[in-house]
Amino acid sequence: MNKAFYLTTAIDYANGSPHLGHAYEKILADVIARTNRLNRLETHFVTGLDEHGQKVQQGAEKEGVTPQERCDRIAKEFLNLLQELNISNDDYIRTTEERHKKVVSHLLTDLFDRGEIYKAEYSGFYSLRAEQFLQEKDKVNGKWPEIYGEVTEITESNYFFKLSKYQDWLVKYLNDNEDFIVPRFRKNQVLEFLKEPLNDLCISRPKDRLNWGIQLPFDDGYVTYVWFDALVNYISAVGYGNESFEKYWPADLHVIGKDILAPPHSIYWPIMLKAANLPMPKQILAHGWWMSSGEKMSKSTGEVIDPLSLIEQRGVDPFRYFVMREMTVGQDADFSLDRFESRYKTDLGNDLGNLVSRLFHMIATYENGVVPVAELNEEFEQKLKSHFEEMKPKALDLFNNYQFNLGLDQIFVFIRGINKYADERRPWKLAKSDNEEDKQKLKTCLGLMVESLRLAIQLLAPVMPNVHGTVNGLMGLPPCENWEKDLILDFRLVGKPLGEKPILFPR
Ligand code: MSP
Repeated sequence: MNKAFYLTTAIDYANGSPHLGHAYEKILADVIARTNRLNRLETHFVTGLDEHGQKVQQGAEKEGVTPQERCDRIAKEFLNLLQELNISNDDYIRTTEERHKKVVSHLLTDLFDRGEIYKAEYSGFYSLRAEQFLQEKDKVNGKWPEIYGEVTEITESNYFFKLSKYQDWLVKYLNDNEDFIVPRFRKNQVLEFLKEPLNDLCISRPKDRLNWGIQLPFDDGYVTYVWFDALVNYISAVGYGNESFEKYWPADLHVIGKDILAPPHSIYWPIMLKAANLPMPKQILAHGWWMSSGEKMSKSTGEVIDPLSLIEQRGVDPFRYFVMREMTVGQDADFSLDRFESRYKTDLGNDLGNLVSRLFHMIATYENGVVPVAELNEEFEQKLKSHFEEMKPKALDLFNNYQFNLGLDQIFVFIRGINKYADERRPWKLAKSDNEEDKQKLKTCLGLMVESLRLAIQLLAPVMPNVHGTVNGLMGLPPCENWEKDLILDFRLVGKPLGEKPILFPR
């Protein structure tokens, strides 16, 4: 069995509508999945929904529906978003599915039987809003920060997972595996966190306080609490316990936001896997936040951008292009409608859109719609050709290192290069000449422009799959499936007819 590249995103909380932050992460992972596939790497891409927990239970109570009904409604919203965003996931895992609950139970039983989970009494400060126990050190200036809401002192028995026992192992693992967390600077934050002794992790909640969860297999008075449920989706989605599991596990890449790196993904998850004798995922990619007015865009801060309204106005590909072009993966970015409009008008409208429409128009008018033969014997042509040959490995390398903003920049500098080449060669002037030499120059110019555009459009496939499909279609090509084969400058379209001039990015 060949191992597939297994790629995951965080599973979204089912306690509100999706916003730009959720959309971005799915697009980022989708671009990685599509890039892999174009590199002929079999990829299994999974995303999903995190449905248990107090907030979901409370939300349902307020609404007067069952938690499951509420989750089903929210799942529809998130699934609809995936479709609108053109996300190419292979599976969608919901934590209320039987296949997930079974794996959570199995893992808990296994760890309990082997003494990795124990019961103990615990007294401490509890935040209802954050659904977590707090410590004195969480106070700021002697007070509980606003985000915790009401904090009360409670004593209860719970089940704990032995995290602390694995602390030294984890520090060593992180130091030995430089690329486990990217961007690398985030690893230091995790190591910083690990300088303090780890407490064992409370993994249960008594049912009288929370019943919307997966029951502990060894004590029916409790349900599993948050991370021991949610993180397990990564193995339940690929059938932990079945033979096919090995085709996927270990995951090659977990894409998540920086807020859930430490401790959940960089501390709890590796230790849970280690305790269960499972191999570590290869890499965790922590992206930054979309901000609005200097704060993380989130349901609780109020100001959120609805991706669906932007898609409705400008189409899905411009939206995908914008988030990938504006954000340096790993850093935060501010969302601004003005920036969005300006990218739409400049990069997409003026640079790419104009190139496509004027080129198709000229081929139709001067060459009866058929791609002419180019002769690359002059410096102008050689310059554009070299530009492509130099840009291609750079763009591919940047894409492979998740530096999509820089990769896209390279591609768009090339697209502007094609326009500049046309401005220098002036095919519209050449078309007016009766001179044979000028006629050949015109053919060369248009032939080389078509070939250059074809190459640029193949490179844009992971980010703008629809635009890619449309332009390829007009050039008589199916959507690209293999970059190695299709990113070669070989004038394969010579003698082929082109379709009608499209308007890709209407004003
Ligand atoms: N359910 C947990 C994840 C469990 S994974 C085993 C959760 N859900 S969430 O809905 O709050 O967030 C889902 C993902 O969206 C996270 O990776 C989070 O970082 C990301 N984003 C939520 N808001 C964001 C921004 N404003 N900007 C970018 N991404 C952020 O956490």
